[in-house]
Amino acid sequence: MGEAVIFLGPPGAGKGTQAARLAEELSFKKLSTGDILRDHVARGTPLGQQVKPIMDRGDLVPDELILALIREELADRVILDGFPRTLPQAEALDRLLAETGTRLLGVVLVEVPEEELVRRLLRRAELEGRSDDNEETIRRRLEVYREKTEPLVHYYEKKGVLRRVDGLGTPEEVYARIRAALGI
Ligand code: AP5
Repeated sequence: MGEAVIFLGPPGAGKGTQAARLAEELSFKKLSTGDILRDHVARGTPLGQQVKPIMDRGDLVPDELILALIREELADRVILDGFPRTLPQAEALDRLLAETGTRLLGVVLVEVPEEELVRRLLRRAELEGRSDDNEETIRRRLEVYREKTEPLVHYYEKKGVLRRVDGLGTPEEVYARIRAALGI
């Protein structure tokens, strides 16, 4: 029987950072839809060319493209970073988990105040130059998060699987809270 953990939270909350460490320590596969899409953009594949303008604007890539990626990449023991991000994605994931007999260990919601999110992402723009880390796109990503992704908080809360974690503090402090919240 497979096992899965979902990381939910706004842009810059630290989902990728924390998912990477948890995946390494638990020997799970980290599946980040953002990383997969950025890899396609970097390689200039047809998918990459299609999604680049969408990502640069800070909008979401269509659900059907994302779901095709997930079906290809889903593993037995998996940490999902940045997926699901819409209600249709969450419902499709529920069906996939049921079909594959995968148990959801928890949904970690990493909570960070908006001014700190913007600060972190602008800093990353300076260091790494990610093309969606500019002030205008960051605002749009936050708006899209509130509109399309935040409803998932309620969706998973109702299922009793949501684990809220304070994302402020050092990455080590946040990681310890996540392990405690998941009880693993
Ligand atoms: P994605 O790559 O998922 O971006 P995001 O959700 O905007 O998340 P980020 O990577 O910006 O933040 P994070 O929470 O992972 O934080 P991180 O650890 O990196 O998506 C990009 C785009 O792809 C989307 O806009 C969309 O277009 C498309 N897409 C992806 N998935 C999709 C889907 N399912 N459906 C549709 N479209 C999809 O940390 C951020 C920064 O903060 C880093 O510099 C880090 O070093 C730093 N940091 C981390 N922790 C701390 C800490 N505790 N203290 C201080 N700094 C910290």
